[in-house]
Amino acid sequence: MEFKKNILCIGAGYVGGPTMAVIAMKCPEYKVNVVDINNEKIKQWNSDQLPIFEPGLDEVVQKCRGKNLFFSTEIEKGIREADIIFVSVNTPTKTFGEGTGMASDLQYWEKTAHQIVEHANGDKTIVEKSTLPVRTAEAMERILKANDKGFHFEVVSNPEFLAEGTAIRDLLDSDRVLVGSHKTERGMAAAREIVNIYKHWLSDDKIITTNLWSSELSKLVANAFLAQRISSINSISALCEKTDADITEISYAVGADSRIGNKFLNPSVGFGGSCFKKDILNLVYIARSYHLNEVADYWHQVIKMNDFQKDRFVRQIVKEMFSTVANKKIVLFGFAFKANTGDTRESPAIDITKKLLEERAQVIITDPQALDNARMDLKNYDGLVTYEPNPYRAAESADAIAIITEWNEYKLLDYQKIYAAMKKPAFIFDGRNILNHEELYKIGFNVYPLGKTQLSHFK
Ligand code: NAD
Ligand code: UGA
Repeated sequence: MEFKKNILCIGAGYVGGPTMAVIAMKCPEYKVNVVDINNEKIKQWNSDQLPIFEPGLDEVVQKCRGKNLFFSTEIEKGIREADIIFVSVNTPTKTFGEGTGMASDLQYWEKTAHQIVEHANGDKTIVEKSTLPVRTAEAMERILKANDKGFHFEVVSNPEFLAEGTAIRDLLDSDRVLVGSHKTERGMAAAREIVNIYKHWLSDDKIITTNLWSSELSKLVANAFLAQRISSINSISALCEKTDADITEISYAVGADSRIGNKFLNPSVGFGGSCFKKDILNLVYIARSYHLNEVADYWHQVIKMNDFQKDRFVRQIVKEMFSTVANKKIVLFGFAFKANTGDTRESPAIDITKKLLEERAQVIITDPQALDNARMDLKNYDGLVTYEPNPYRAAESADAIAIITEWNEYKLLDYQKIYAAMKKPAFIFDGRNILNHEELYKIGFNVYPLGKTQLSHFK
């Protein structure tokens, strides 16, 4: 079949895979190639066992794969064929040199830009899908323009706002899509090309066009605002525990103000995920590099509050269990950074496990999707941690349960049965406030919710 346009996506990860699958489904006249350097991952994209767990993704991939959606490692061929190249490679925090621990590591991005220059055989539109520091496009343009083939590469920014666990829904019914470009004739034409893709399923009012730099910076700012709300509510959860105010009531009362809104006000053991921390650190780094220290300090506090929340969760466990957890069995219900994903990147579970191990606790981890990733995250702690997919078995003869991930199945368990199999006194630390605390207390548990009065039998 002759396709109207060839789209290439470099990077078949959590963003590249689902985004391109949805584009392929909604734009049957476009051919969509997704390439990656990771051969194993590509094999999985071509199998029935996709490399990521994402509700609804299997169906979309099955509909299009082999028709207009293709996964391969043939990056050079992909570049040659493509009219539009989305770059969705990882942009982690730098772990070396200038900006270590703060700035974005752009080596994967830069490598891609060089590959495009080397293998292109005509003009192309290059789309920044990865989250990047503001003004990255400028550096990319310098690399792309440094070619002696005479081809033109127009860089457009189209950041992704999907959240894991709801990626397909977010892509199909986006609040907005953002396309940033230079306001030149070529820039506007390239932006129109990208807008036309999304127009296949989104109305015009959902598609925002801006200048390149606003688009790049909006992505960092959106993540910073979202994370800031969680740090705000988490900071108040600590205050609630001292004052007998109830964080659920406060979230409701505050969120009922339509100017504030009721989303993203759930307290937690801390936010995780591959992006909030990295993107805020990047924002802090950028602000500092422009000598805007007050701006940098302001946003850095969002991360510090998140660290405080993870820390205080473990400190509470130790304190309430008679100031020692040495040799006690503590079961983590959930290891993923949120429900409905197997992703554990920056999951608060990682820090919590390490801190509990420092206290010499025996840690048992259960999770419906994330045990393989948990094993990799904790590979240096082999023998100290037990992995058990079945939550009932995980809780057998345990001293305490800590709810880390808000998986729906944890709300539906038979806690009477779990209590009967645990050591006494039995403790539950609900780091997500998903359980019925009164009921657990009646069963016999000592219950420690977040930002609420604790229900302990010791008083
Ligand atoms: P990921 O690590 O899941 O995927 C990136 C992929 O790029 C990997 O499979 C890697 O092998 C591949 N890659 C790296 N260099 C390559 C190269 N030179 N050629 C071909 N492939 C290469 O990362 P992700 O979670 O998909 O994130 C990608 C970008 O999107 C990041 O900038 C991130 O900040 C941003 N983002 C992520 C999310 C999310 O929910 N994960 C949401 C919005 C934006
Ligand atoms: C987040 C943003 O929501 C996306 O818009 C963005 O595209 C993405 O980051 C990104 O750039 O990577 P994601 O990290 O997948 O998406 O998931 P979120 O739903 O935002 O949750 C992030 C963390 O915050 C999770 O650990 C979650 O449990 C926590 N959270 C969320 C809370 O603790 N309380 C809340 O009320 C909401």
